[in-house]
Amino acid sequence: MMFLSSFFFFCLALITQVKVEGCQPKNIFLLAGQSNMSGRGGNRNDTNNIVQWDGIIPPECTSNPKILRLAANKTWVEAHEPLHKDIDYLKTCGIGPGMPFANAILAKKPSLGSIGLVPCAIGGTRIIEWSRGTRLYRRLVDRAKASLTCGGKIRALLWYQGESDTSLHDSKLYKVRLEKFINDLRHDLNHPNLPVIMVGICSADQGPFINRIRTVQLNYDDTNVKAVDARGSTFIADQKHLDTKSEIRVGHKLAAAFLSSFVHRHAH
Ligand SMILES: *[C@@H]1O[C@H](CO)[C@@H](O)[C@H](O)[C@H]1NC(C)=O
Ligand SMILES: *[C@@H]1O[C@H](CO)[C@@H](O)[C@H](O)[C@H]1NC(C)=O
Ligand SMILES: *[C@@H]1O[C@H](CO)[C@@H](O)[C@H](O)[C@H]1NC(C)=O
Repeated sequence: MMFLSSFFFFCLALITQVKVEGCQPKNIFLLAGQSNMSGRGGNRNDTNNIVQWDGIIPPECTSNPKILRLAANKTWVEAHEPLHKDIDYLKTCGIGPGMPFANAILAKKPSLGSIGLVPCAIGGTRIIEWSRGTRLYRRLVDRAKASLTCGGKIRALLWYQGESDTSLHDSKLYKVRLEKFINDLRHDLNHPNLPVIMVGICSADQGPFINRIRTVQLNYDDTNVKAVDARGSTFIADQKHLDTKSEIRVGHKLAAAFLSSFVHRHAH
């Protein structure tokens, strides 16, 4: 009897294990930064002047069983817009670059296999809020580690941040702070060559020092760090956040940069 029941639980454990592994994505991407990474595309004021997402999911952003997201409770679930809903939950989240990024990679390189997105971005955050020891940094590392518990590989960090660092003082320190953040993260994830693809910010209304930030981002001197350019983006009615069309454009640029720089042509 004892033997039979232990055997039963042994089988049950096996079945559960298989289920968990079946849902484990192969290619994991960390998403961090501010609101444009979190996603505000499709947001607008309702008649009571409350910001609401319009709920429109264009074909580039649709769900797919091969695209998973690490939910706030650190379990893998099928991803759907808004990707950061349970992470950047104090704000109204809309369309961001994550889903179009993942869909583009699946379409262009299906042999890579399933994609796991780890949303971590929070609107309005300065880079010092992401430095080692801070709550956001700890959560990023914690979620990154949790994403690996049953396998897969972290393929890149996608970083869209810098708008909150466009004061005279912060813009001067941006280069040093960004380098320290990337180095610390690589060290703490035990991934010394972790690829980073960042978005070079462009001006909406951040004042005169944005070009300092942009220059740092677009000229980062490291073969495993690439940048794509947000210049040419269009905005929602607040004139501060990328609209859906431009979030898709940024997502596609991130995907193209990843495929051309970090995927070998003959690799699976
Ligand atoms: C974790 O969160 C997801 C998405 O919100 C939910 O579907 C799932 O049931 C949760 N799992 C646990 C164990 O709480
Ligand atoms: C969103 O990104 C655009 C393009 O880089 C930038 O001009 C804008 O300031 C950003 N908005 C916020 C709130 O960070
Ligand atoms: C909502 O309305 C407020 C007040 O008029 C405005 O400042 C804000 O930019 C609007 N937000 C959006 C997303 O349209």
